[in-house]
Amino acid sequence: MPSSCRSGVCQSCLMRAREGTPPAAAQSGIKDTLRAQGYFLSCRCVPEGDLSVALPEDGAGRFASTITGIRQLSDTVMELRLARPEGFEYRAGQFATLINGQEVARSYSVASVPELDADLEFQIALVPGGAMSGWLANEAAAGTALHVQGPNGHCFYACADREQPLLLAGTGTGLAPLYGIARDALRQGHTGPIHLFHGALREPGLYLHEPLRALASEWEHFHYHACVLNGPAADEVHVGPLDAWLLETLGTLKGFRAYLCGAPEFVKLMQRKVFLAGVSLQEVFVDSFLPAKAP
Ligand SMILES: Cc1cc2nc3c(=O)[nH]c(=O)nc-3n(C[C@H](O)[C@H](O)[C@H](O)COP(=O)(O)OP(=O)(O)OC[C@H]3O[C@@H](n4cnc5c(N)ncnc54)[C@H](O)[C@@H]3O)c2cc1C
Ligand code: FES
Repeated sequence: MPSSCRSGVCQSCLMRAREGTPPAAAQSGIKDTLRAQGYFLSCRCVPEGDLSVALPEDGAGRFASTITGIRQLSDTVMELRLARPEGFEYRAGQFATLINGQEVARSYSVASVPELDADLEFQIALVPGGAMSGWLANEAAAGTALHVQGPNGHCFYACADREQPLLLAGTGTGLAPLYGIARDALRQGHTGPIHLFHGALREPGLYLHEPLRALASEWEHFHYHACVLNGPAADEVHVGPLDAWLLETLGTLKGFRAYLCGAPEFVKLMQRKVFLAGVSLQEVFVDSFLPAKAP
């Protein structure tokens, strides 16, 4: 049975009850339509009675897809493109779970925008010894089949107030959902300032530096702030911790909507900092890249 986070977040362990009722805790957080069909998260399921179960059906929670391309964005980040399965309706910034032929399941945030991009696009960090990222780097290629589950998550652009200032902050491949959200907000005519902060350990980690600079020169109200923890770096790149620099640059964050993505420790730290700087809790949206747990 594929699984990843084992804590009810990624939904890679989705199963469906053919007979019997799954406990409410195992159905928490899944879509109403799937819940009504008896779908549940097996990592949260302690059955309270007999339960006859099956794997998700293609076209319901799980879709067959094919890789259309893989390219390096930097030494350690790949762009993966998949054919978008029919019926896979998503918003830029949500996440999907990829399941390969060896039943390895991992979640990735969608960087593409359905109205702008034909394929599903992901930005994936190569993790040493990584079951999924290693497989993608060394074995997968255009034409390889896999399954995609989802989409899930609430980290996407849905502003009623088009003038609201937006803060998008992420480290590493935490940029993937932010890139999608920024392009989606611009496409939908957002007029308030959009500040995207991307942090990396060193300069090569700023893997979309040029495309983001180009976006900033195209749109006056889109501001790209690049930051590395360790120099040397080009003049326009700040050297130092992202959280301190972000607050120094923007000052108060009252009235902002914040999207925070990437490593769980970064997301947790920033949630506290943006709240203390004035962002209300309902205006904070996060995509925390929880690592997989061993079965
Ligand atoms: C909602 C969600 C969205 C996500 N979106 C993205 C995304 O857009 N892009 C992306 O690159 N990842 C994303 N992730 C993380 C992704 O799901 C995997 O955890 C990651 O790709 C590692 O998987 P793997 O199979 O390659 O490595 P694994 O086989 O899971 O791990 C191999 C070893 O590396 C360790 N490890 C795992 N991750 C890291 C890390 N980041 N740094 C150092 N050591 C590590 C593990 O503990 C293990 O010892 C997301 C996770 C979640 C839950
Ligand atoms: S939700 Fe069950 S493994 Fe992630």
